[in-house]
Amino acid sequence: MISIGCDHGGYELKLAIIEHLKERNIEFIDCGCDGEKSDYPDIAEKTCKKVTSGECDKAILVCGTGIGMSMAANKIKGIRAAVCSDWYSAKYTRLHNDANVLCLGGRVLGAGLAIELADIFLDTEFEQGRHCARVQKVMDLEDK
Ligand code: RB5
Repeated sequence: MISIGCDHGGYELKLAIIEHLKERNIEFIDCGCDGEKSDYPDIAEKTCKKVTSGECDKAILVCGTGIGMSMAANKIKGIRAAVCSDWYSAKYTRLHNDANVLCLGGRVLGAGLAIELADIFLDTEFEQGRHCARVQKVMDLEDK
């Protein structure tokens, strides 16, 4: 199960990603918005809480740039959010950072590329090994 959310800047791209998730039979919870003006920190919080509660494994957030969503998401304990615009970053943020949230820019990316990035993010496993201690150090920063 994944959670997905957007603000008004990411609404059209979120719809395209949702269509793709349906085609892939990937279950999701849509945390809004429905296209109306909305504040990305509110949607980021609602969407990421589905991950930190354990209800969802990962999340996808879309705003105009992906940046506001990533800033908000990374303030939430337990979240490792990465804003990606290229396949290498989407792949390696899973392999090396164990990112649990992908942030995309609805005004930056075409739907074709964004869907490819979402697939890479959803299908790539964390490499573990030497990356475990580094990811743990990232998480330890939450308490410093
Ligand atoms: C909304 O206009 C826009 O600021 C927002 O979608 C996002 O790009 C912020 O980072």
